[in-house]
Amino acid sequence: MVRPRILILGAPGAGKGTQSARIAEAFDVEHVTTGDALRANKEMDISDLGLEYGTPGEYMDRGELVPDAVVNAIVDRALAEADGFVLDGYPRNEEQAEELDDMTDLDVVLYLEVGEEELVHRLTGRRLDPETGDIYHVEYNPPEEPAVESRLIQRDDDDEETVRERLRVYRENTEPVVERYEQQGVLERVDGEGSPEEVWEDVKATIEAAS
Ligand code: AP5
Repeated sequence: MVRPRILILGAPGAGKGTQSARIAEAFDVEHVTTGDALRANKEMDISDLGLEYGTPGEYMDRGELVPDAVVNAIVDRALAEADGFVLDGYPRNEEQAEELDDMTDLDVVLYLEVGEEELVHRLTGRRLDPETGDIYHVEYNPPEEPAVESRLIQRDDDDEETVRERLRVYRENTEPVVERYEQQGVLERVDGEGSPEEVWEDVKATIEAAS
């Protein structure tokens, strides 16, 4: 079976991670996520690259983008090793989009659409299970087991001030990437405002129709 190569775009909090986990399972593809890869390497020493800060974490905790040289290398390696993938968190600017063109072809480009205040509400209420990596929300999707609830953590960049900065960075850098795929006629818009199950039904049908 030829596995699909899927790109999922959307603002911070649009539900990329939530839907990517379902895509990876249902279509048996790799979930390639720059956010998780960078969080696992927050303290990596990149001071020899002559950049403004010496670790990825210093960019992330300010809501800024990690420099392209670091992120491009992560994605290039991950895609070369994957037999089918859902790519989440990349490309985030036009330079990264050009790099991606050279790395691989895509079968589907999904774009999850969600309004700004809903994004802020989702991100500030997000909690993560450090043991399983599962994503929860204090209101929309709380865990059922008290043992799970007691170990949940909040991401360092999910306080409201940093969330607003991430959204500003998204509008400035990543919206042009969305327009780029729109102009190429390959962008598949999905309404991301429904429940996770409703969004999943649309995501699944769109991938099945396009791949
Ligand atoms: P990254 O980890 O990629 O964060 P992000 O793009 O800001 O996206 P999020 O993970 O915050 O949101 P999501 O869309 O996955 O939403 P989720 O499914 O969790 O990047 C973090 C940082 O790393 C960046 O700021 C940057 O510094 C750096 N970085 C990463 N990639 C980079 C790159 N390419 N270049 C440079 N720097 C890079 O859902 C959010 C919440 O909503 C959850 O609580 C969930 O339960 C809830 N939810 C989800 N769907 C629904 C729904 N349908 N209804 C109700 N609630 C929902």
